[in-house]
Amino acid sequence: MPTIHWSSRYETGIPEIDQEHRLLFDTMNDLIAAFRRGDPRPEVRSVLDFLVNYTMGHLQTEEDWMRDHGYPGLETHRLEHEAMKVQVLDLVHQFEVGVDLTMKVTVLMADWLQYHVDGSDLALAEHSRALAEETAS
Ligand SMILES: [Fe+2]
Repeated sequence: MPTIHWSSRYETGIPEIDQEHRLLFDTMNDLIAAFRRGDPRPEVRSVLDFLVNYTMGHLQTEEDWMRDHGYPGLETHRLEHEAMKVQVLDLVHQFEVGVDLTMKVTVLMADWLQYHVDGSDLALAEHSRALAEETAS
């Protein structure tokens, strides 16, 4: 399973969101490393738990930002978050029943990166820039 690399192309320009995205990448990589090492289940469980809690907190940060900044795509974006939450909680459930998550986590993270962080989240950057331009003019 490849390591996920942070790139400046993912930056929204919204400091709190960018900082959390970076930590999310780091945590995903911790989980990938734990799988690679074949760590005992309690260790994988501990990283998975952190990832779940952090993901939930981060999605809330984004939703709060969108609400506070009158983002017009809030509802659509929020639905993508809800779908992600369901998938992450499903991973935990599958882990609990002993399913090998290696491939499932890779696919979920790759999809999330490609379609959400590199797509929907970047739309927040455009909104943020537009607001900054309005304020400046
Ligand atoms: Fe998002």
